[in-house]
Amino acid sequence: MNWKNTRTLVTGGASFIGSALVDALVQRGATVRVVDNFSSGRRENLAPHLKSNAIELMHADLLDDGVARQSVRGMDLVFHLAADHGGRGYVDLHQAACAGNLGLDGILFRACVQQNVEKVVFASSGCIYPNYIQNDPTEMLYLTEDKAGPPYDADNLYGWAKLMAEMTLQAYHRDYGLKAASCRYFTVYGPRGHENHAVIAMIARAFVGQNPFVVWGNGEQIRNWTHVDDIVSGTIRAAEAIGDGTAINLGTTERTRVIDAVHEVLRYTGHKAGIELHPELPTGPMNRVADNSLAKRLLDWEPQIKFMIGLRSTIDWYFSTKDRKKIASELETLLTERQSTARESSRIAAPDPASATVSA
Ligand SMILES: NC(=O)c1ccc[n+]([C@@H]2O[C@H](COP(=O)([O-])OP(=O)(O)OC[C@H]3O[C@@H](n4cnc5c(N)ncnc54)[C@H](O)[C@@H]3O)[C@@H](O)[C@H]2O)c1
Repeated sequence: MNWKNTRTLVTGGASFIGSALVDALVQRGATVRVVDNFSSGRRENLAPHLKSNAIELMHADLLDDGVARQSVRGMDLVFHLAADHGGRGYVDLHQAACAGNLGLDGILFRACVQQNVEKVVFASSGCIYPNYIQNDPTEMLYLTEDKAGPPYDADNLYGWAKLMAEMTLQAYHRDYGLKAASCRYFTVYGPRGHENHAVIAMIARAFVGQNPFVVWGNGEQIRNWTHVDDIVSGTIRAAEAIGDGTAINLGTTERTRVIDAVHEVLRYTGHKAGIELHPELPTGPMNRVADNSLAKRLLDWEPQIKFMIGLRSTIDWYFSTKDRKKIASELETLLTERQSTARESSRIAAPDPASATVSA
């Protein structure tokens, strides 16, 4: 695919993953527009591109009248990452807010068809897989794409909305000829990540010297934390190679217990603390790891960054960019909210059409 001058929209492009995707698209020479309401995204994530006028930024809410249509107008390709989303602490505790994604995705996809966008690439999630098959941490379970089938049992309203969006895109492909791909991201970590996700939460606890060091769950939960750079390269390959609505896993097959990640964070940071397990706090499934053979076959993609290597460089990033006093004072809020202050996106705000501002 020739990225040079491909007109590309990244919804939620100021986010952790969205901004890394914008970096990669700009590097490939694509023409990039970002739409974001900054409910969790940050302007600073896009700072170099804004400074050099390399991207166009629409500061607007996709749920407001006409914004979706305006943002996709003239685009060849739309990467849809905007979502009311956070880590385990957020999606477990803010179900109504996450349900809003059902509306957001529907409005955006409809606008894409109306404005003749050629292709949509959707940021889906490992949360679409049935919870009931992910209970046993001793099982060598690898979630193949076909395991997302009846009886459906997605993870929270967040997972259900992602599943519905995948299905909607497949229907739009069949009925309207819209080209589409869904990428099922698995627990992404890396620079610009949020404290409401497990890996950054662990790093933040070490950063502020928390003692006892709190771990949500019994520590035996298995995850396949996948580095944001691998997620971005897989998403771009999906845009290049998939058009029929296929949903594909983007995740490593490394199996890491939460407690092993905690031990490495403590060892690498030199923080000495007792560990306090809290099984009553949000834990998520006990065993969630992707199979990525379909991505290997269709995208010629597999993750390049081993978890322990990526973890250490993420710790280096966090320790070199954050303010210890500020994080210490906000930590409890950051673990479950999308912002350190008020949860703008979790409230149902009155539409404000005048709020859409565009800068380049
Ligand atoms: N981080 C993960 O581990 C993970 C895993 C699976 C899927 N995903 C998906 O990847 C995408 C990006 O996630 P992320 O982790 O980078 O963080 P994120 O949740 O901060 O990204 C969402 C972005 O969308 C913006 N946004 C939300 N509602 C909007 C609206 N109504 N109008 C305009 N912009 C809006 C936010 O400001 C933010 O920049 C999301 O769709 C998320 O569901 C992330």
